[in-house]
Amino acid sequence: MKMSFGLCSIFLVFWLASIAYASDPSQLQDFCVAVPDAKNAVFVNGKFCKNPNMVVSDDFLFQGLNKAGNTSNNLGSVVTPVNVNQLEGLNTLGVSMARLDFAPNGINPPHTHPRATEAFLLVEGTLYVGFVTSNPADPTTQKNKLFTKYLHPGDVFVFPQGLIHFQFNVGKTNAVAFASFGSQNPGTITVANAVFGSDPKINPDVLAKAFQVEKNIIDYLQAQFCRKGYGGKSFFHCTGMPIKASADKLTREIEKFGYPPVFPVVKDEEIAVPEAKPEDENEGGQNQAGGKFKGLIHFQFNVGKTNAVAFASFGSQNPGTITVANAVFGSDPKINPDVLAKAFQVEKNIIDYLQAQFWSNYN
Ligand SMILES: *[C@@H]1O[C@H](CO)[C@@H](O)[C@H](O)[C@H]1NC(C)=O
Repeated sequence: MKMSFGLCSIFLVFWLASIAYASDPSQLQDFCVAVPDAKNAVFVNGKFCKNPNMVVSDDFLFQGLNKAGNTSNNLGSVVTPVNVNQLEGLNTLGVSMARLDFAPNGINPPHTHPRATEAFLLVEGTLYVGFVTSNPADPTTQKNKLFTKYLHPGDVFVFPQGLIHFQFNVGKTNAVAFASFGSQNPGTITVANAVFGSDPKINPDVLAKAFQVEKNIIDYLQAQFCRKGYGGKSFFHCTGMPIKASADKLTREIEKFGYPPVFPVVKDEEIAVPEAKPEDENEGGQNQAGGKFKGLIHFQFNVGKTNAVAFASFGSQNPGTITVANAVFGSDPKINPDVLAKAFQVEKNIIDYLQAQFWSNYN
């Protein structure tokens, strides 16, 4: 059977429309409870669906969000998620939530949710919260803008989809909050972990150039996540350099350069910077196309002896760009150095030094 060109076009349009959704698609039935085993299930968007005849009330129930999480960790905070991974009945329904507990001085460090806007309700304590906009249209005269607020019980604050945000307990008591997300699975990218704690490590040359500092500072930052890890996981380490060698190197550098280390400032000309795109992106090398997933932090670095040229296509008329270094260390106004020192697990002087790199041109 010969298909008409018109019919082909219609199919193509539908196919493109189906892959161009930038948020959870509308639900296709009353419910679609997730099952861990794919056998005898039908795949829709999200997880496999349980046979509706087998669905029970408990599939729609999660218990225990009245209980405080354990905040005994490096950050003094803990998130108890209730998304499709904990509550199967949320599958395809496009919402989820979480409880957040903060000890005094506890922080939920700068992070993004690539797939969801977050509405955040504080019920107990006092939090300092904020988010940073994506890169401005004219970066020569504008910076990534920081919006902050002190929250008190009953306050609701919104963190727009894909933007870097944080919460910091500035009160003398514990703080408790509940967050709602416009996705069954919002995802979380913690900036410090993704940039300085990835496994394997991002090449320090790339990060030194991106953050406009010397490689030793990057080694120092990476060492924080390789030695201590996050959330008290002391077993965590990064591949590339054994823990002891990394610690020894740090000790030598502290002896050589002081603590925190102080180096002369060297400005670089061409910069490959880690950045996150809120929308889809497909990119090509020479005659090669490489796909990138929505919202993930990525970078490109010219390691050749010649110029490199690339073309990128985005699944949006305005994909937006968040350059991590600029958004975190170069926002206007600056993010409180106490917040960043705790988030990056380093002393405030290191944060001052990093912020200075992005402010020297403006002051
Ligand atoms: C909280 O976590 C810490 C560190 O993992 C642990 O030592 C402590 O026993 C935990 N407390 C409770 C009440 O579970």
